[in-house]
Amino acid sequence: MGLKKIAAEDFNTNIFRDLDRGWMLLTAGDRQEKFNPMTVSWGFMGTFWFKPMVIVGVRPQRYTFGLMTEYDTFSLCAFPPEYHPALSFCGSHSGRDGDKTVPAGLTPIAGDRIAAPVFAEAELILECRKTYAAPLDGKSFLNKALINECYRDRDFHQLFFGEVLEIRGVDKYCQKG
Ligand SMILES: Cc1cc2nc3c(=O)[nH]c(=O)nc-3n(C[C@H](O)[C@H](O)[C@H](O)COP(=O)(O)O)c2cc1C
Repeated sequence: MGLKKIAAEDFNTNIFRDLDRGWMLLTAGDRQEKFNPMTVSWGFMGTFWFKPMVIVGVRPQRYTFGLMTEYDTFSLCAFPPEYHPALSFCGSHSGRDGDKTVPAGLTPIAGDRIAAPVFAEAELILECRKTYAAPLDGKSFLNKALINECYRDRDFHQLFFGEVLEIRGVDKYCQKG
């Protein structure tokens, strides 16, 4: 797919549409060693510590959690609509049971700046370096109803902040001026 580099200030995204509705693939690990993709739909993008940053939330029971903890980099990729079944697969199967990329029909390729792989079929690639990680704390919830709604097993997400080192995407993700 013809992706071009996009400066953070030109990055044109609606995070609610592209992440919550469209879903993305979070991939942790090292392409040369071990890695694993997992579908995500919750997260944030913005500026922190003067840097373009994404925040993803990973529950501790995910296989991806161990790789996010162990390795320094991760990628976030968005795909054209025809890859929705692939994302559905990666969001309902675990890498503990085998490589998801083959049954999902996805091709891991080298990133430009990170050890974690990106995907040949992606229409948007964010290459990220872990910057900060911390679990959500049940005691800090001001809306306690969310705990029973989202964390009946008290499996609070770990938030991983990643500095966005590079963005590549198809034209629709770039808006200059
Ligand atoms: C649309 C969708 C969004 C998801 N978003 C998240 C998320 O933001 N955080 C999370 O921990 N799990 C999320 N999941 C669940 C994981 O993708 C799923 O449990 C996956 O099988 C974990 O794979 P792993 O064990 O290989 O890491 C989502 C699943 C789907 C289908």
